[in-house]
Amino acid sequence: MTDAHKFIAIDGPAGSGKSSVSKAVARRLDYGYLDTGAAYRALAWHVLEGGADTADAEAVRSAASDFPLSQQLDPDDRRVLVGGVDVTDAIRDPRVSAAVSGVARVPEVRVQVNEIFRRMVAESAYPAVVVEGRDITTVVAPDAPVRILLTAAPEVRAARRAGELEGSNAAAVAEALHKRDASDSSVVDFLNAAPGVTVVDSTHLDFTQTIDAVLAVIERAFDAEKEPHHG
Ligand code: DC
Repeated sequence: MTDAHKFIAIDGPAGSGKSSVSKAVARRLDYGYLDTGAAYRALAWHVLEGGADTADAEAVRSAASDFPLSQQLDPDDRRVLVGGVDVTDAIRDPRVSAAVSGVARVPEVRVQVNEIFRRMVAESAYPAVVVEGRDITTVVAPDAPVRILLTAAPEVRAARRAGELEGSNAAAVAEALHKRDASDSSVVDFLNAAPGVTVVDSTHLDFTQTIDAVLAVIERAFDAEKEPHHG
């Protein structure tokens, strides 16, 4: 069962502010929060840990067939475990960031993780879950009552990412980010909104303004659902 009505679907590229905004929105509404990118990262970690390369699709498929992922939906518990190993910090490693596109590129793997996401949302006790990723509005939950594409100009995204990584060189961060976007967007299009998806452009918005903009979209969607239907 998809239970699409429980999804608040938010897609967008790296550095759009997606994760921090989604988390803040979930806290505000007492909803769950699911970072699907973390699951792809955990799978990439799992492949590397097994001594394989994520460019090897067969190795990726094999790692995915035995992928004991544990992820909480609590916006204040960001821990990710693979087979009991806490990989929360390890999955943010540049080594994993560089390898994760290889995992995200394998279609069977996407089908498999999407089922994990749908099950987690359906089985959760939360009334709704803010699910963020790249293909949540289009593939994972196209029937979700709220579907948002959070964007920002490329230079703003690169600057935000550079600010998150201590001591990193902004130009190198920008280059790595654009390389990953180019590779990832050839698999799923998260740079253009699908029909029915509301765009929130955070280029000129600060953190609080972005949260408010997303909350306003959610409120509008729920108000529209309550409106009596005519005809
Ligand atoms: O959001 P992030 O940078 O943590 O995502 C990690 C990788 O996973 C990124 O390369 C894109 C991929 N991804 C995806 O293909 N589909 C999703 N729903 C989420 C992430």
